Formats: sequence, structure tokens, C-alpha cells
Amino acid sequence: MSDLLPAVRSFLSSPKQLLIDGDWVDAKDGRTFATVNPSTEETLVQVAQASAVDVDRAVVAARSAFESGPWSRMTPRDRSHLLWRIGDLIEAHADEFAQLEALDNGKRVEAARDGDVAVSAELFRYFAGWATKMEGTTIPMSVPGREFHAYTRREAVGVVAGIVPWNFPLLMACFKIVPAITAGNTVILKPAEQTPLTALRLGELLLEAGVPAGVVNILPGFGDTGAALVDHHGVDKVAFTGSTEVGKKIAAAASVNLKKVSLELGGKAPNIIFNDADIDAAIAGAVLGGYFNEGQCCVNGSRLYVQRGVFDRVVEGVAAAARAITVGDGFDANSQMGPLVSQEQHEKVLGYIRGAVRDGAVLNAGSADAIGDRGFFVAPTLITGVTEQMAVQTDEIFGPVVTAIPFDTEDEVVAAANNTVYGLAAGVWSNNIGTAHRVGARLRAGTVWLNTWHADDVTLPRGGFKQSGWGRELGSFGLDDYTELKTVIAELR
Ligand code: NAI
Ligand code: MG
Repeated sequence: MSDLLPAVRSFLSSPKQLLIDGDWVDAKDGRTFATVNPSTEETLVQVAQASAVDVDRAVVAARSAFESGPWSRMTPRDRSHLLWRIGDLIEAHADEFAQLEALDNGKRVEAARDGDVAVSAELFRYFAGWATKMEGTTIPMSVPGREFHAYTRREAVGVVAGIVPWNFPLLMACFKIVPAITAGNTVILKPAEQTPLTALRLGELLLEAGVPAGVVNILPGFGDTGAALVDHHGVDKVAFTGSTEVGKKIAAAASVNLKKVSLELGGKAPNIIFNDADIDAAIAGAVLGGYFNEGQCCVNGSRLYVQRGVFDRVVEGVAAAARAITVGDGFDANSQMGPLVSQEQHEKVLGYIRGAVRDGAVLNAGSADAIGDRGFFVAPTLITGVTEQMAVQTDEIFGPVVTAIPFDTEDEVVAAANNTVYGLAAGVWSNNIGTAHRVGARLRAGTVWLNTWHADDVTLPRGGFKQSGWGRELGSFGLDDYTELKTVIAELR
């Protein structure tokens, strides 16, 4: 077990508040909620719970910072330097963030530090480069006898509400905050109720770095806090990551003032392994793709499709690797997988496994029983003998649960892979370059991995086809959703 850093102890020693207009404040109605360590089920700290009144205060602050604060006069270069400084600060506090994330979410400290925290720092640095490159174009006009100079400008949308889930708490907060402030917007972030802590620590560093008051406000709370943001007429855009179910509610509610909406929603990614693949690499990819982040990742490859000639070998390989994974406390250096985030998620995931067993499916690895009597642990599970109709095959489970189904032909597997309401990610393993690219092109998903899984970079756009969402995040495309395009037409008289 690694010991808690003094900085983490000190952070946890006081109740956590809301960040509004550069100040840490209690919720107006004084309400708080407990955030829990999923490895031990112990309460970590009480956190202020924002209500609609607090949302209103934050929107007023964000609006004022957008329209009249120093933020609106800050040059792109100063904004760029500020973003870089925040990246450095996150890196300097990486161990502290990693411990907090492991406490609040359950994931392994090392996974948090090398993944979530490192990428969060990199996001600030990558977007620091874009702050000075928000360029427009000049566009010719053809009006006989008259002369014009027409050009475009990319301008901030205004006040952005970022509503994020619990699976990558700090990273998802950064996914929303970084592109938004790069483009000159102001932000109100609502972290997930299960995992508010790293966003609050980030808020402290943002103030330390010199982000002006009101530019980033942080409001922990539940779904009703998120809904109050979505309903608010003073919010210009909602950027959401979470379930497809809530994504649909947000799209409907945002119509009150036609605020812009971007949505990164659920997934049920097909991972297709052909007979001619490098089978050892494909097995390793299936394990990483299936069980990464305790299976709580929207782009995980939860549906394996394996060509008949290698089906048994792949199933045995994945099952053996799954059984070899040591599940335990995220603070235990021996753990290779932590608990699920919450009791709700624990019950949901075990319920899916039990349902599959009841329906006649076979568990090649894993179990429908919880591990231990404390903490939300689930064994990495591989299920065969499933049909396309079973819930375990159709629904986003968001746990360490992978199904495997055999196939014979390319057409058959493409149809099966695309037979889902989701379209976030997909993957193909084949050493035939034609097969890999052709099948990749036929899969209806925003990200397609060929002979790899979870290979990623902040430079790459990501997002969903179909009910997996609207818009794209990260890369140069990731700024488009945080800007309005203005066309300026001047007559040269
Ligand atoms: P959720 O979609 O309910 O929560 C995500 C965020 O939305 C949280 O901050 C929550 O407080 C907020 N929220 C909830 N209701 C809202 C509303 N009506 N208006 C505005 N904001 C609202 O996800 P939940 O309940 O935590 O997880 C349920 C399932 O959703 C998971 O089992 C998983 O299948 C899926 N999920 C998918 C994620 C993804 O990255 N695609 C992330 C988290 C969950
Ligand atoms: Mg929910």
C-alpha cells in the first residue's frame, strides 16, 4: 500500500466547496454530499452540493468574465502562456492528483498518474499551441461593379457548461475546460457526483496559475445540478460526456434557448479478429480493449467477434489473461485492476453477468459474484454462448465484461458489428492490409483501430456516429464546437 501524501491528507482534511467567481463558497442552501472510496466504501470527505441558485450565481460570474472581465481582453499569447503554465502545474502535482483519483474513483494510482494525469497536463500544452492559431480565411466575392473584402473570424461561443462522468474524472474535466478556454469561452464545470475531488483540486491550481475569476467555475452536484445548467438561459453551450440516456434528455432540454450541444455518449465497440491476424497481439489487444479502466471506458472493445478458425484459441487466450489479472485496492501496488466506481455500478454490472448466465451463456472467465465483502470489485469476465439479443450483448455495461461470438464471413461480421445503436469505436485485427482497411471503412464508428486498441493522442479527433453523440473532441476539430464562425463583409468604397 502506498501512503497518502501530506498534500492529499491536507486537501481531504476540510470540507470541499464550490468554486464561483474565483472564490470557494458553500452551497447557498448549505447542502453537502459524501464522496466514497470505492475500494473501502469509506467516506472520504463531504462536498458542497450546488443547487439551481448556485448555478445561477455561477452563470452570472461566467457571463461577466466573458463579457467584461480581464479574460475578454487577454491576448491569445497570454492565454497560450497561461494554458502552458497550468499543464506544468498539473505535472508538478501529478502524484497528488493520482492519489486523489485513486481514492475517489478506485482506479490504480499508477494508472491514474501515467494515464489520466499525464494526458490532462498534455491537453493544456497541446491546446496552448492553438490559442494563437484561431485563424479565419479571406473569401472572394463576385459582384459586378463593386468591390468587397470578406473574411471569417472564429469567436468564442460564450458561457459553456461542461457536464462530465466519473470514469476519468480529471481528464474529462480537462476535455471540457481546455478547448473551451483556449477559444476564449468561460466555463461552468459539473463533475460527477461519484468523483468530484480532482476537479476541485484542479480548480485550486487554475486560480494559482492566474486564471481570472469567473472564467472557470466548478459546481459539484448530482443530475439536478446538471439539469439546472442545461435549462439555464444564460448558458450558450453544453458539452456533455456520459450516458446516451442523459444525452437525449440534454438534447431535448437544451432547446429552451437552442443552446449549442456537444455529446460524447455510450459505446459498445465491436473488436473483430480474423483468422489471418497476429493472434497473440490480437489477444493482448482484446484484453486491453476489454478490461482497461475496469471496463469503465466508452471506447472499450466489449464485443469480440472472432473468425471461426481461431475462435477457441482467442477465447482461451483472453480467458487465461483475464483470470491472471489481480483485482484489488487501487492503492495496492500488486493490484492490476481496481474496483468499479460505485455500488450502483457494481450492482448493475453483476446484474448483467447474472442475466447472461440465466439466459444460458457461459462464463469462460470471471464470476457473477462480487469479490470480497468490502469494495465494489468484479472479476474480469469473458462470456461466450451469447446471442445478439441478450442484454449483455446489446447494452453498454461499463464494467470488465467482454462477450465473444464466432463468425465466418466478412459481410456477416460487418453486419453484426454495425447492428447497434452505438457508434463510438471499433477495431479490426488482420494481417491482410486490404481486409483491415476495407472492414475499417465499413464500420460505423467515430474511431476505428486496426491491429491495435486504445492507441491515442490529444491530436486526434474523437466522437460518435449514431447514438454515441454529436460533435468531435480534441485535435484541431475539437475547437470547432467551442467557436462560432463569423462572416464579415466590407464594401470597399
Ligand atoms: P450519467 O449519464 O447519468 O452521468 C453523467 C453526468 O451527467 C454526471 O455528472 C451526472 O450528474 C450528470 N447528469 C445526470 N442526469 C443529468 C441530467 N438530467 N441533466 C444533466 N446532467 C445530468 O451516467 P451514470 O448514471 O453515472 O452512469 C450510467 C451509465 O452511463 C453507465 O453504466 C454507463 O453505461 C454510461 N456512462 C457512459 C459514459 C461514457 O463516457 N460514455 C460515462 C459514464 C457513464
Ligand atoms: Mg445517471
